[in-house]
Amino acid sequence: MTDIRILVGSVYGGALMTARAIKQALDADGYSALVLENPVLDDITSDAAPLLVCTSTTGQGDIPGNLLPFYVDLREQLPQQPGRPFGIIVLGDSSYGDTFCGAGELMEEALYETAARKVGETLCIDALDTQEPENEALPWVRKWVSMLSI
Ligand SMILES: Cc1cc2nc3c(=O)[nH]c(=O)nc-3n(C[C@H](O)[C@H](O)[C@H](O)COP(=O)(O)O)c2cc1C
Repeated sequence: MTDIRILVGSVYGGALMTARAIKQALDADGYSALVLENPVLDDITSDAAPLLVCTSTTGQGDIPGNLLPFYVDLREQLPQQPGRPFGIIVLGDSSYGDTFCGAGELMEEALYETAARKVGETLCIDALDTQEPENEALPWVRKWVSMLSI
């Protein structure tokens, strides 16, 4: 059984590496995490595991190409997920100004429209602050899973 499904959006691999580090840490802590590098809607409608979005931001506040088909289908089909817990980790770069970490906001809005329930505050990781996003992500994730009661 998968306890946590990680939906990845990444252009250059930073968010993917972060997701893999999260999986390793969660598995070591006794959970079972699945990293979805090219998620499709079926990946979330086929079970009820908590969802962790781990995406970077591209373009002008946009969602990376590998996560975009999932996002578009989610918005178009709005499969209802009442109360389903989700969390958001988003990589960005504050030098982009208004679009800083915009992909996280888009994913959050879409998940809210399915009636899913956000757990914890979004973690925004700024490329200007760190080249090692997993160092910020892992403590955040440990706190996040503790709030899930699974
Ligand atoms: C072409 C391009 C566009 C970007 N646009 C944004 C943006 O609009 N907002 C933002 O916060 N970061 C933006 N970024 C920064 C990336 O999100 C950031 O560098 C991130 O760490 C990349 O993660 P990845 O390796 O998983 O793709 C952009 C980066 C590039 C190269």
